[in-house]
Amino acid sequence: MAESETINTRASAARVLDQVVSGRRSLNDVLAPGLRNIADGRKRALIQELVYGTLRWYYQLDAMLQCLLNKPLKKRDSDLRCLLLSGLYQLTRMALPSHVAVNETVQAARILDKSWATGLVNAVLRGYQRNSVQLEADIGDSLVALYAHPGWLIERFRHDWPDDWEAILQAGNQRPPLSLRVNRRQITRDDYLTLLQDEGIGAAPLAHTLDGIKVEVPVPVNALPGFDEGLVSVQDAAAQQAAGLLELAPGLHVLDACAAPGGKTAHILETEPDLASITAVDVDERRLRLVEDNLERLGLTARVLHADAAEPDSWCDSHSYDRILLDVPCSATGVIRRHPDIKLLRRPADIGSLVSRQAQLLSAMWSLLPAGGMLLYTTCSVLADENERRIGVFLEDNPDAVEQEISASWGRPCANGRQILPGDDDMDGFYFACMRKRF
Ligand SMILES: C[S@@+](CC[C@H](N)C(=O)[O-])C[C@H]1O[C@@H](n2cnc3c(N)ncnc32)[C@H](O)[C@@H]1O
Repeated sequence: MAESETINTRASAARVLDQVVSGRRSLNDVLAPGLRNIADGRKRALIQELVYGTLRWYYQLDAMLQCLLNKPLKKRDSDLRCLLLSGLYQLTRMALPSHVAVNETVQAARILDKSWATGLVNAVLRGYQRNSVQLEADIGDSLVALYAHPGWLIERFRHDWPDDWEAILQAGNQRPPLSLRVNRRQITRDDYLTLLQDEGIGAAPLAHTLDGIKVEVPVPVNALPGFDEGLVSVQDAAAQQAAGLLELAPGLHVLDACAAPGGKTAHILETEPDLASITAVDVDERRLRLVEDNLERLGLTARVLHADAAEPDSWCDSHSYDRILLDVPCSATGVIRRHPDIKLLRRPADIGSLVSRQAQLLSAMWSLLPAGGMLLYTTCSVLADENERRIGVFLEDNPDAVEQEISASWGRPCANGRQILPGDDDMDGFYFACMRKRF
């Protein structure tokens, strides 16, 4: 039988969702295998839409589902629960004829081997259609349902950003733009814009960047002209600020301490072709291979090292890095619009352990920096504990560190460092702090 006849998109999406929701797996890890045997591009796109959309609105859809079910589903029916959530997503947020959404979702219950539940799926979805206005009013009092974020995260945003927390939550629920970084070693931004135009892909220069382009309607990367040949990479405008802050110059030695998948390593090399050296370190061997793949695609070269940046004695015997980029592992609360699974996977206790790792990495990397050298600390978080408070504590503990003020057209100054909030000029949330070591 042809693949298109055998693949049921709703059932496939429910299985992927179940691995995230119940299996607590990262969407990055489960989506690609879930799509592997599906050749039909439209089916792949529909599964992605169902998965991303359901995760983006999970907390709202879940509140509705709880009102619509007479009794909770059994744990073993977690795939069915995901199917119901994605059914509600289709009815609430997708421009599909509602009878198609209901019928296809009911059919998918059979594919999941839950024929007994077809009546239940039908009743829940039809129940939503009959009572949607009342249902939306009933859940409207809950901030968790209204903003579709977990309560603990809403509280943290509210505490750290009393004037901006609602905008942060709303930005987290938007679809992200497709932002590109042109490889200026190979082509100018204007010439690449012309290539896009020739392919009928609408695009414009990305604000606050020298190399960035915003594509009007996202397309798969393999539809981008010259992607395989390294003319362009995918990178948000916020992440594109790091290379510019490093004050790169010919002859400098640069260390990118948490480098994978290599977006910033590559941008550094594209920006300054005459560095004396660049070393890209990461503790995750699998992710480090992505650095190698990206560099190869872009025609760039770096020393790529599998090592723990928190233990530099085991791999580094010199103190000769003029610049260190420390793009630490973080809560990723600034990039929720790109990774909606973060809302389900991150737990309050994670923040404390991330902050300890960040402190360890910062202290280890500072020990490698010679007098006069610069360290750029970055996160894709909006939480003050990982950002301005972390740097505040570090500056207090290290009198040889001097903060270098970042004046820029983007973001907002903090007590220490500079923050871009998600949605500011349509960028991801990102934090930057620049420190020099005293002579
Ligand atoms: C935010 S990501 C880096 C993104 C990367 N700079 C880019 O622009 O593509 C953080 C990285 O830190 C790495 N990491 C975490 N702990 C580390 C450690 N102790 N030593 C080195 N790398 C580490 C993770 O494997 C992850 O790849």
